[in-house]
Amino acid sequence: MPQTSLKVLFVASEMFPLIKTGGLADVVGALPRALNAAGAKVTVFLPGFPKVLRGLETSRTLARLTDVGGRKAALIKGRTASGIDVIALDAPHLFNIDGNPYLDDSGNDRAGNDIRYAEFSRIAARLASGDIGRVKYDILHAHDWQAGLAPAYLKAAGSPVKSVLTVHNLAFQGLFPKETFNGLGLPDDFYGPDGLEYWNKVSFLKAAIAYCDHITTVSPSYALEIQSDAGGMGFGGMLRAKGAALSGILNGIDLDVWNPETDPDIPANFGAEDLAGKVKCKAALQTSLGLTVDPRAPLFCVVSRLTTQKGLDLLADMTDYIALTGGQLALLGSGDSAIEDAFLAAAKKHPTQIAVTIGYNEPLAHRLQAGSDAIFIPSRFEPCGLTQLCAMRYGCVPVVGRTGGLNDTVIDANPMALQDGVATGIQFYPIDGHNLYAAIKRAFDAYAEQETWNRIVDNCLAQDVGWDASAQKYMQLYQGLAD
Ligand code: ADP
Ligand code: GLC
Repeated sequence: MPQTSLKVLFVASEMFPLIKTGGLADVVGALPRALNAAGAKVTVFLPGFPKVLRGLETSRTLARLTDVGGRKAALIKGRTASGIDVIALDAPHLFNIDGNPYLDDSGNDRAGNDIRYAEFSRIAARLASGDIGRVKYDILHAHDWQAGLAPAYLKAAGSPVKSVLTVHNLAFQGLFPKETFNGLGLPDDFYGPDGLEYWNKVSFLKAAIAYCDHITTVSPSYALEIQSDAGGMGFGGMLRAKGAALSGILNGIDLDVWNPETDPDIPANFGAEDLAGKVKCKAALQTSLGLTVDPRAPLFCVVSRLTTQKGLDLLADMTDYIALTGGQLALLGSGDSAIEDAFLAAAKKHPTQIAVTIGYNEPLAHRLQAGSDAIFIPSRFEPCGLTQLCAMRYGCVPVVGRTGGLNDTVIDANPMALQDGVATGIQFYPIDGHNLYAAIKRAFDAYAEQETWNRIVDNCLAQDVGWDASAQKYMQLYQGLAD
């Protein structure tokens, strides 16, 4: 099949810049463009959240549907500002949600998530098969549990459309009571240990693992980790059994959104050839956050969900050490209230050295990456991680736990790597407080040797963190399945 005719339907619940809670949105916002450049024709199928419908540059009604969760709905076809085709499922009784698409204001799973994402996946499968919308796709590419039932619906309908599942985070499994199964309209034998059943519950993620034609995850290291009993989070055996139908393809970032030479959100632009702008960004950041303005104080940042996955409880214990050693910490994030409170208390204690912003703030995330010397990502597990890629592009050195995509994208500044000119950061392992402490100490020491540090920064800036190489790998995968 010639590359140009490969039609791919992405099925995902988030897409930057329309709606985002994390890295999934970044991937779905950027990878289609790289795939289109490589010869595919990607359409992204999204839930019709108000932000999605409002954010489309163009839109028209593609089809009217009579029964989606018992009510009428419509498919809206449109395009994003960056030229990616989108189809949104406009079903206000399911998707009239302005806040977090999965969690309510108290942080609990939203009532009705089972019907919401089951119907989304059911319509995705019909769309991919050409039952509605009149285009038949070669590949349905489902992302995470929210799209997990789509491969099951394809198989149940006997559709020839091939499906790929990308696991962005195995910890999110789409678990619901077993009674949910009765409302899904799937054949009875889909409820079983080889199907959707998971310890007497239904798992939407397991549905995709069972019924898709290929599974990818977002880094080669995480692809190995999830096949172990510890990293497999209950799915290790099933994933091991997939053999060659499971692979890891590393994420990239959107080089236009994250470009220090043109970024409109940072106070001064800069690039690998001239870092004068970065010095200005650091001073401006220190000023705006109320930190002591000092070009030689190592300024660390965090841009993250504040959860135990991200290991930030470990970092919260290091704030006195960082401040007493003359470092600074600028944190942006939100999540577990105990972690938020610990950092807020540290900022109160060391107001000129620690600044904490609780919330979600895209422009500030850019200013932190541009103005900081280093970023902490002490994740206990990390399927890929995108902030270390953004950081490297902005000359901000990642200090990371050696796990998943952090292992694949950051090269530890050990003496050999430094000598070979390939060191891009600091890794630590096992991931615990003791080793994080040692990593912070190494960062202070490396920063004190200005020449060493500058070499690491230069290596970071020289990394290719874009999507092109990985897009080629997805293309090969699609082609192999579609042939
Ligand atoms: P995850 O998806 O597990 O949260 P990633 O590193 O893959 O982790 O992606 C996180 C994305 O969300 C990055 O683009 C990061 O810049 C962004 N992000 C995380 N927290 C915030 C925040 N508080 N404000 C702005 N952007 C954030
Ligand atoms: C998930 C993972 C993160 C990954 C992102 C995009 O949210 O936690 O590591 O980078 O998905 O694939």
